Amino acid sequence: MKLTYPMKITPIAADVPRSHRVYFEVFGCQMNKLDAELMLEGLTNRGYHLVHDPEDAGVILYNTCSVREHAEERAVMRMTSFKRRKKREPDLILGLTGCVAQHKQDELTERAPWIDLIIGTREFDRLPELIEEARGQRNTVLATEMDSPLEFVRQRNLGPQPWHAFVSVMRGCDMVCTYCIVPTTRGKEVSRPPEMILDEVRRLADTGVKEITFLGQTVNSYGKRLGAGIGLDTLLRGVEEIDGIERCHFITSHPRFLRPKLIQAMAECTKVMDYLHLPVQSGSDSMLARMKRTYDRSFYLHVIDRLRDQIPDITLATDFIVGFPGETEDEFEESLSLIDEVGFDHGYVFQYSPRPGTVSDHQMDDDIPLEVKKQRNHRLLERISTSGEGRNQRFLGRQVEVIAEGTSRSNDSRWAGKARDHRTVIWDAQDDEVAGSFVVVEVDRASAATLYGQRVAGPSPRPILPNSSAL
Ligand code: SAH
Ligand code: SF4
Ligand code: F3S
Repeated sequence: MKLTYPMKITPIAADVPRSHRVYFEVFGCQMNKLDAELMLEGLTNRGYHLVHDPEDAGVILYNTCSVREHAEERAVMRMTSFKRRKKREPDLILGLTGCVAQHKQDELTERAPWIDLIIGTREFDRLPELIEEARGQRNTVLATEMDSPLEFVRQRNLGPQPWHAFVSVMRGCDMVCTYCIVPTTRGKEVSRPPEMILDEVRRLADTGVKEITFLGQTVNSYGKRLGAGIGLDTLLRGVEEIDGIERCHFITSHPRFLRPKLIQAMAECTKVMDYLHLPVQSGSDSMLARMKRTYDRSFYLHVIDRLRDQIPDITLATDFIVGFPGETEDEFEESLSLIDEVGFDHGYVFQYSPRPGTVSDHQMDDDIPLEVKKQRNHRLLERISTSGEGRNQRFLGRQVEVIAEGTSRSNDSRWAGKARDHRTVIWDAQDDEVAGSFVVVEVDRASAATLYGQRVAGPSPRPILPNSSAL
């Protein structure tokens, strides 16, 4: 999980008043990043500008995450570091938005009454008017209703890359995983109507977006309560018809809802990327039951079989939690063996962190020592890396299509980009590289997470290889 999100900062005129200079830091998941972009769009429509340095800002905002304790504490500590300045500079507006603001509103108003704004996850569309409301009053302005409709017409993509945009398809989560704070911070699952989503994608395509990532906490249960026949497959098929969008994918899927109709749409739609993030959390049935994940190991394996029947080459990523209450060595080893059995390409590992307000925190002992959590974390990551390295060898000698992103972080005579399965690809730069263009790279080396090679075609504004056989 990234700590900050490099939203684009355009140079601003010297006469923009301090009151309209905003410093905005973003914690947490992709949903939080997108929400920050949407807030920023609302702010820029009202004459606000983003600045790099909090010292230059008259408005300081943190979009916060509650998923693990350190994320939550870090955001509150950063806010506290402005307390002194707020005393000197009473016009300074300090605001917490997002999951911590939603979840800890009462505690925050007690502990940090000098914070001007506390805005939850369903009312941030009102941010500009709430800032105005907070000016000149001493009380904290709270906006934490959970049943607010939260709907505004998005016109622009303010993400860091002009060719890629996140699009929210649903908000909230109806699941009850015992360790998870998200249903508390984000509320019940609500899907947006498909026409509204596809209109947004069309507008984004008109601004030069080529790749869309649909976002939802259980994105593949999209459509619940919208009426018969509407699902994530409806959106994938809708995107097929939108000129300018060349790639699309979706995060995060829940194993329970990976239904045949969706798998079929993934297989048939040429724009759908060859990548699926399907968090499993554990390979042990007893752990999965205690986590209330609603499936067991054999169900997960069955879903993967069904998926690979239709899309044999699909790249698979997952999440694991280690050190969940009561996790024995044997149970942990079932997570290790699941990696071998599935053959994951990537994976994220999280050390269990009890969240106040969750079932596991109330009813279970956080009894796995930190040292054991760390060791298990390390062992799982090693196994995933071995699996990823093995899987990556299948690309040797192949030509893969890549959206070029920019110079490689470690070596500026190379360029880096993303393949159709979200893999990072690095190649020796030529003179005419263009960020956001399509290139074809012939792979001659593969590490656990990255492919290396030489550019053999491109740059081109449109895809070069036929989509369905690109990887
Ligand atoms: N909605 C997504 C993920 C939400 S949170 C899903 O259901 O898959 C992202 C990841 O954080 C989860 O997949 C889980 O692995 C991890 N996570 C969530 N709560 C956690 C906790 N209390 N401690 C440690 N990891 C946690
Ligand atoms: Fe949390 Fe489970 Fe919902 Fe994912 S599905 S957001 S882990 S409750
Ligand atoms: Fe964190 Fe909220 Fe996302 S808790 S992971 S920012 S949904």
